[in-house]
Amino acid sequence: MKKILFASSEAVPFIKTGGLADVVGSLPKYFDRKKYDVRVILPKYLCMDKKWQKRLKKVADFKVQLGWRNQYAGILQTKADGIWYYFIDNEFYFAGDHPYGEIYQDVEKFAFFSKAVLEALDKINFIPDVLHCNDWQTGMIPVFLDQVYRKKAEYQKIHTVFSIHNIRFQGRWILHEVQDITGLPNELFTMHGIESYGESNYLKGGILFSDAVTTVSKTYAQEIMTPEGGSGLDGVLKSCSHKLHGILNGLDYEVYNPKKDSDIAAKFHVKNVAVQKPKNKAKLQEMMKLPIQPDVFLIGIVSRMTDQKGFDLVAYILDELLEKENIQIAALGTGEERYENMFRHFEAKYPQKLSAVIGYSESAAHQIYAGADAFLMPSLFEPCGLSQLISLRYGTVPIVRETGGLKDTVEPYNQYTQEGTGFSFSNYNAHEMAGIIRYAKEIYDTQKAQWHDLIVRGMKKDFSWENSVKDYERLYDSF
Ligand code: ADP
Ligand code: GLC
Repeated sequence: MKKILFASSEAVPFIKTGGLADVVGSLPKYFDRKKYDVRVILPKYLCMDKKWQKRLKKVADFKVQLGWRNQYAGILQTKADGIWYYFIDNEFYFAGDHPYGEIYQDVEKFAFFSKAVLEALDKINFIPDVLHCNDWQTGMIPVFLDQVYRKKAEYQKIHTVFSIHNIRFQGRWILHEVQDITGLPNELFTMHGIESYGESNYLKGGILFSDAVTTVSKTYAQEIMTPEGGSGLDGVLKSCSHKLHGILNGLDYEVYNPKKDSDIAAKFHVKNVAVQKPKNKAKLQEMMKLPIQPDVFLIGIVSRMTDQKGFDLVAYILDELLEKENIQIAALGTGEERYENMFRHFEAKYPQKLSAVIGYSESAAHQIYAGADAFLMPSLFEPCGLSQLISLRYGTVPIVRETGGLKDTVEPYNQYTQEGTGFSFSNYNAHEMAGIIRYAKEIYDTQKAQWHDLIVRGMKKDFSWENSVKDYERLYDSF
């Protein structure tokens, strides 16, 4: 039995800010359980779901040396869906009402977490064959392992995988402060180590010091090796291309299942979507206080509101679209204030056409996925993207920009061959986006049968973990 330990800063059902939580909360369940014992280790945030906090049992505690600091770490555990989860407890670092804070706090917080994970392994009696780290918050795990913990005999055989879910976030901070926090030697803080553009960089550490690097789609794996897509680390990634793999994310088909989803007004499957979707649409219109009209083209948006998600294009074109077109937009999201205000502005200006809920709600998200006709995701960049996969599964036609995982998962509609599962445009250009939205609307308005077939083709696509998990198994077996 191979032992695998996932280290992450978030995972469903405990704590989630984005797709990383969906991935770490679902992928471990889909490994062949006869061959792989997969467990997960997370920080125990005070803002974590209270229901779960009550179920945690303490198993150990110890001190973590962080430079001159000597910090308490407790370990708690629980089992969910057959998977063991461990939590690192320290209320100095993990209090607060959000998992992430200011970067200067987060670099210390996640240096602590990374070291505590390594300290924890023998205390929980689970020395993994593969330690699978995710994003910059865990980038220092392979570094500390190499620099400090290889001395322990039982740690010598551990292999590390580092997964990049978003290269934009790198954990960059002042060199000498990170040196002080980590207590790591001077040589490490150079261009051959974790220095990058005059700062220390946790993501670079994860890339350089791990045995394999993965990212969440094949196209994104290529993009991050280019100056346009590499956020300054393209050179580093190119030099590591021999160990870089693009493995597409899957979706938890248990959680995102329109047949069983208790968050939606009318459950459905591919055979009755035509009858059930209108019920979900009406419910969505009611929920969003939009006029309940069955025939108006209703576009859904569920997203972190950041520039990554293409909201500059949306801001640029909304006046024109909402003024001229008979459409409705139902948006749910939270993030940068400028985008939240942009939606508030258009909602006030076009109350019959646009409704925005600024906030985070799983159940509202599910109703949007189920009730909208189309789902807009014009990302500037998108490592994988789960929202378009959820849309496909819920019979909601994605309209996306051809970047990263969006390009790999949405096949553009072809009216001549009647192929494709969605609509896409290539350049980051607001008019190109508006053009494709209008085209989608035209098909919706005038070609009902074709639109229905488009929905059905999308629903029949398989983006479960079944395929991708095999790639991870092969990778683990290659060590
Ligand atoms: P990212 O991880 O970059 O935010 P993904 O598409 O991979 O993008 O994953 C986003 C996940 O977060 C999806 O499950 C999406 O439904 C969910 N999500 C994003 N914003 C919200 C919100 N405001 N309320 C509920 N769910 C949200
Ligand atoms: C990141 C990316 C998103 C990806 C998710 C899970 O948040 O922005 O594209 O789907 O991680 O890998």
